[in-house]
Amino acid sequence: MDSGLEGVVVAETVLSHSDGARGLLWLRGHRLEEVVAEYGYEGAVALLWEGFAGDGLSRAALRTALGEARRAAFARRDEWLPAAASRPLVAGVRMALEFLPEDSAPAMILGALPVAVAALLRRQRGAAPLPPDPAQGTAADLLRMIRGAPAPAATAEALDTYFAAVLENGLNTSAFAARIIASSGASLLAAVIGAYCAFSGPRHGGAPGPTLDMLDEIAASGDIDGWIEKRLAAGERLMGFGHRVFRHGDPRAAALKAALERLGPEIGPGAGRLAVAAEVERRVKSAFARLKPGRPVLEPNVEINAALLLDAVEIPRAAFTPVFAVARCAGWLAHAMEQQKTGRLIRPISAYIGPRPDGA
Ligand code: COA
Repeated sequence: MDSGLEGVVVAETVLSHSDGARGLLWLRGHRLEEVVAEYGYEGAVALLWEGFAGDGLSRAALRTALGEARRAAFARRDEWLPAAASRPLVAGVRMALEFLPEDSAPAMILGALPVAVAALLRRQRGAAPLPPDPAQGTAADLLRMIRGAPAPAATAEALDTYFAAVLENGLNTSAFAARIIASSGASLLAAVIGAYCAFSGPRHGGAPGPTLDMLDEIAASGDIDGWIEKRLAAGERLMGFGHRVFRHGDPRAAALKAALERLGPEIGPGAGRLAVAAEVERRVKSAFARLKPGRPVLEPNVEINAALLLDAVEIPRAAFTPVFAVARCAGWLAHAMEQQKTGRLIRPISAYIGPRPDGA
């Protein structure tokens, strides 16, 4: 038994392959680097959903469908916005999903997320929600709806790269949750809401905000080694490090580092953090080797560069997780649709270790 199901194969998939030993991620036969460079977010969604949400899907068709979905979500804002605005952002976005029709098509679910994130962020600032521009790509339109004005092209491109890089990653915790729910015959919407809940914890999609908090804390401490050693000695987990599959390095981190470097002067307040992050990564590796000799070195995962990128494009820290979900929801839907095709209920068993009834 492995309570974390490490290495346990529970599904066959054509969607993606996370190869921990070689530090590779493939999406439907394409390397991550190629997906990021050539497909962009909408193209990657089309690639992932091909044969599940329709045949012959294209980047342009997805761009249109998601633009229409944003328009539809905004048109229904009087239904979901008042209730969702009463909750903290992560819960508010979940509530906005719950107001969608149960039989919503995949694009309608995915396109509702950026509208909910932007409208709720603006509500928190006392500003009226801004209607989407369906002609824009998701990344550019999300930034525009949050800011109230178009973001520079390089900024929108950086967010688009982030979305394409993180939208799918094998049978991760939330994708598995989506598959479990879909295996019961529940709706795609139910699978997405369940996946979003599984995603929200700090070991998974909830990680980028606390990762940036950690970098700030380390920088403020003025003693990188001391800070790291204290946490490791106390048995604490360092945010942005470690991965169940990518134990020798995370290919998504490299894709995001390149995007951060391309941003150049646009990076603004994040520029100093890039240097701090590089130093922290170096020192964590040597602290781990010092404190846990003989153990594989703890490698950074995607979250440090993800947090730096989200911060550089001026996404507020409290919105990191729901913005990450704008990307990952495409993966949840793909997994749920693939699972629906198998028609088999996922139902493992547990080893009973409680008291036995008399005589049993
Ligand atoms: N900081 C410090 N030590 C860590 C660590 C981290 N972030 N991640 C793993 N380790 C250590 C564990 O303490 C364990 O040591 P031990 O055997 O002495 O107890 C060892 O490495 C193996 O860890 P394991 O429990 O097998 O890792 P996992 O596969 O269950 O955990 C994560 C994977 C992602 C949950 C874990 O690395 C983590 O919590 N990371 C921080 C949160 C994060 O950044 N999440 C985003 C992931 S993309």
